[in-house]
Amino acid sequence: MKFFIDTANLAQIQDAHDLGILDGVTTNPSLMAKEGISGKDNVMKHYKTICDIVGDGDVSAEVIATDFQGMVREGEELAELHPNIVVKIPMIQEGVKALKYFSDKGIRTNCTLVFSAGQALIAAKAGASYVSPFIGRLDDISTDGLDLIEQIRLIYDNYGYETEILAASVRHPMHIIKCAEIGADVMTGPLSAIVALMKHPLTDNGLAQFLADHAKAAK
Ligand code: E4P
Repeated sequence: MKFFIDTANLAQIQDAHDLGILDGVTTNPSLMAKEGISGKDNVMKHYKTICDIVGDGDVSAEVIATDFQGMVREGEELAELHPNIVVKIPMIQEGVKALKYFSDKGIRTNCTLVFSAGQALIAAKAGASYVSPFIGRLDDISTDGLDLIEQIRLIYDNYGYETEILAASVRHPMHIIKCAEIGADVMTGPLSAIVALMKHPLTDNGLAQFLADHAKAAK
């Protein structure tokens, strides 16, 4: 399972990268705004910095345009920035046309804001490299986001679609574990959820005991 971090915060991306288990980064316009990044030049510079930190991992950069021509223009500029940029396109009709356009040109895409199996099926047919079902936001409205991951896994396996299932809007470590059980190809979540996977009180207690015994024996 690939691990992406869902942030535009450079310190958190560096921390996750330093763990040695980071496969990529996803961003969105809200995450960029949260870091105070605005204006085309600054946005492009920020994406470039993220790519440099991540090394050979994928970095999803989202278009702002909502019309086909605008998405193509923005997406081509983003893709030229760095070979690891994946153009993030919203699941709307104009977006589907753009997914197909980029797929035909060999430019990789991440179809975002996916909330149903039908949307995921269309994204795969349009040739998206990744599909991003937002599981946390479905949970927020009392719908099980993990059910959607299961549905998409089944559909993609039925037909051998190569689009990778990128479980997005992950909020906590159990989301990650359940997505791994179901067979999501990728998960993107906050650093806190990734770090929480490593924690166990028995590990902490066991280590404290080992160190105490070692120190006693050395006296
Ligand atoms: C995915 O690419 C999105 O950036 C993200 O996962 C949205 O998560 P949120 O629902 O926590 O904002």
